[in-house]
Amino acid sequence: MLVASNRGPVSYEVGEDGSLHAKRGGGGLVSGLSAIGPDAGALWVCSALTDGDREAVARGVGEEGVRMLPVPADVHADAYNGIANSVLWFVHHMLYQTPLEPVFDAEFRRQWAAYETYNRAFAQALAQEAAQGAAVLVQDYHLCLVPGMLRELRPDLRIGHFSHTPWAPVDYFGLLPDDIRAQLLTGMLGADRLGFLTRRWADAFSACCTEFAGGTGKTRVGVHGLGADGEFLLERSHRPDVDERMAALREEIGAAPDGGARRTIVRVDRTELSKNIVRGLLAYRQLLDDHPEWRERVVHVAFAYPSRQDLAVYRDYMADVQRLTQEINSAYGTPGWTPVLLNLKDDFARSLAAYRLADVALVNPIRDGMNLVAKEVPVVSDEGCALVLSREAGAYGELRDDAIVVNPYDVLETARALHEGLTMDPRERAERTGRLSAAATALPPARWFLDQLNALREPHPN
Ligand code: G6P
Repeated sequence: MLVASNRGPVSYEVGEDGSLHAKRGGGGLVSGLSAIGPDAGALWVCSALTDGDREAVARGVGEEGVRMLPVPADVHADAYNGIANSVLWFVHHMLYQTPLEPVFDAEFRRQWAAYETYNRAFAQALAQEAAQGAAVLVQDYHLCLVPGMLRELRPDLRIGHFSHTPWAPVDYFGLLPDDIRAQLLTGMLGADRLGFLTRRWADAFSACCTEFAGGTGKTRVGVHGLGADGEFLLERSHRPDVDERMAALREEIGAAPDGGARRTIVRVDRTELSKNIVRGLLAYRQLLDDHPEWRERVVHVAFAYPSRQDLAVYRDYMADVQRLTQEINSAYGTPGWTPVLLNLKDDFARSLAAYRLADVALVNPIRDGMNLVAKEVPVVSDEGCALVLSREAGAYGELRDDAIVVNPYDVLETARALHEGLTMDPRERAERTGRLSAAATALPPARWFLDQLNALREPHPN
């Protein structure tokens, strides 16, 4: 069995003394595959992303079961930053807006050629490594062309592709030039089976195929939701490093004027346009305006980890988040109260500490394939946490009954939802959290992975 993805399970850093340090990656895919264990004999093909990774490849250092492809840095930059993250990510998350409409010019065509080269490098490596009739699970929008390319090289293989993002509606996908549209769809339809996180994204893909490719042909399209890894999260969130961070965080949050603990509204995201962090801050400011009784009594703890910082639009977004945080803090803050605590450093233990003490979790993406934060918080929460959830997150399908659902564009509605979360009766909150946690862990990552694999191995209907 082989897995292919842009980002792999491990990444290397070069220490000051020139030695290499391995850092384990996070995310559902990593925990899904790790849960299967090294004995499964799977090989994971991924990109060498950092200087440390390229150095590891050059020195022949690596983990058992992982092959890093040293794709030239410029090819990777064009494929990853140019096509995958600036075009495909924007299309599937419907993020284009003035002045960010797509421009399909000569630069785009050059980047597209790099995307093809990048995908071919994966297809060739997989073709070389795969045993006769092996199953290959290709992951995500970085590698849409791999199934078709691999099928040509190795017709004997069972090829699957899984999308961790939403899929764009027909009119939005239709923004792409005709030939690019066709290449993306034909590339993916080279797979025996395609997987999506929700029925909504799977149907959107099929609709694009009907419109632009004459249907899905012999390729099967299936849905595999991905849940939180409950056991791991509970164990991890009670280690001493998390307890320490909880104490520190409580100190920073401070006490209300009456001496009681301040309430917390927590969000944890990559600093990513689709996560809608700015509207979250606007909603929080609206809450402080509409309900001045919350001033001094609530803190918005916002984790916004840097992401894709090679792209100007991500850097600008990060600056917007920082600017608005400062505006709110200087307009409303008092000597003993900082209304927004913004965390820009990626610290998993600290975010788990925030999950444990959160009164309200704010998950308001414009669009999201699934969103695992919405599923992790209820599992980890100590005393129950109200979940404010966007109806545009994949997780909405499974969590809608016990979440406070919002339209992510509606700042006023989101402010009202925050108030509702803060004032929810503690017993109701705890009951809802229990049900959310059960729904969130129904499809653990290992199960998600095995279901995909088993479905791929099922014989073809014809
Ligand atoms: C999304 C994508 C993943 C990606 C992750 C982080 O969840 O579906 O494929 O790995 O974002 O983005 P990055 O660009 O840092 O890999």
